[in-house]
Amino acid sequence: MGLDDFKENQEVKVVDASKKLRIGIIGCGWIAEAHIKSYLRQPDVEIVAGADLVPGKAKAFFEKWGVEGVKTDYASHKEMLDDKSLKLDAVSICTYNRQHAIPAIYALEKGVNVLLEKPFTVTLEEAVEVVKAEKKSGKILSIGFQPRMDENMKMIKRIVESGELGQVYYIQTGGGRRRGIPTPYGTTFIEDKTAGLGALGDIGCYSLDMVLNAIGYPKPLTVSGYKSSFFGTDPNYYKKIGHPEYAKLFGVDDFAAAFIRLEGGIILDFRIAWAMNLDTPGDTIIMGTKGSLRIPSTECWNGSVGGAMTLYHEVCGEQTQTEIPILKTKEGLFDLKIRTFLDAIKENGTAPVPSSQILINQAIIDGIAKSAECGREIEIKIPEI
Ligand SMILES: NC(=O)c1ccc[n+]([C@@H]2O[C@H](COP(=O)([O-])OP(=O)(O)OC[C@H]3O[C@@H](n4cnc5c(N)ncnc54)[C@H](O)[C@@H]3O)[C@@H](O)[C@H]2O)c1
Repeated sequence: MGLDDFKENQEVKVVDASKKLRIGIIGCGWIAEAHIKSYLRQPDVEIVAGADLVPGKAKAFFEKWGVEGVKTDYASHKEMLDDKSLKLDAVSICTYNRQHAIPAIYALEKGVNVLLEKPFTVTLEEAVEVVKAEKKSGKILSIGFQPRMDENMKMIKRIVESGELGQVYYIQTGGGRRRGIPTPYGTTFIEDKTAGLGALGDIGCYSLDMVLNAIGYPKPLTVSGYKSSFFGTDPNYYKKIGHPEYAKLFGVDDFAAAFIRLEGGIILDFRIAWAMNLDTPGDTIIMGTKGSLRIPSTECWNGSVGGAMTLYHEVCGEQTQTEIPILKTKEGLFDLKIRTFLDAIKENGTAPVPSSQILINQAIIDGIAKSAECGREIEIKIPEI
């Protein structure tokens, strides 16, 4: 099978537009733009409401996108979800990290399906509360990891599951940007009161997902973590963008590293950077008893595959390498993130990116943060829910 056959074989669904799903957007900032763009491309969606804490922001947002008839006179997520007249089927929660858990729990309690932006939450405790609300509600909760929709990500999982690598025992993952602290629309990514986590949560969650999803999300056992913020707290860093005052507001990490033990004797070696004096802290590698896979990092790390992957293995006793060419995904990843969420609601299906997996992702992030704070290795304990 060639690459073209593969592309032809990717399923493109025909959407039944006879029943429209009623959608609300909570938080009308930067990422909400990607959500609305994708919703507007879906024939079975009606956007009926939007809320933002900043007065007038939601109204201006929908005007900008030319979407009419959307109710926006809400002071927060709460008033919007309390408005029974909306008959909401689902909400996209596009708020900053510290406001992920609260609206998600409230929406689920109101019987509304939730597409929650990444990272899942800031702490493991919050994530546990969200999962409890999800279980009680019986509604769909999907976490916004669009790199999951990428055919190359799926290929990593297929390679592991095929047995080509044998028993996986060591993984190195992570990525970084030389200069990439995100401040495009202000400081909600860098202030502790809004973000809670820096590079560790923002892009770290993707690099953990890349490998953990491939190996079936084994339970984490212990973690020794480290965090720093040398770049974010330096006024010189922001000179080019004319905001040296951001240095004083910076309250999260811009680099994190960790050594994690997973069930099944697997070691996970992790590092992630929003800023560093280096091009990349390394490719992702998955080492196994029969073969190993090298996944090149992207230059400005965003959770995707940076180039053709290489499988190192033996054929008839001879050491060899096989190149796995980059696969093209037919549809946009964001469109697929929205579409798979909508399909799960319509078909009474399961969440495309389920909380049962991302709870483990969050437990590791939380463990790294807590271990870094106390300066020693700690156990990771995920409560039964
Ligand atoms: N999936 C992706 O590719 C991607 C990309 C960028 C950001 N994100 C994630 O999206 C989230 C938002 O990021 P952003 O850059 O859009 O932030 P932002 O600061 O631009 O927008 C967040 C908005 O939410 C509003 N808000 C906060 N709490 C609220 C509440 N309870 N009710 C109503 N409105 C509320 C804020 O006023 C703000 O306007 C973050 O968690 C981030 O990690 C995901």
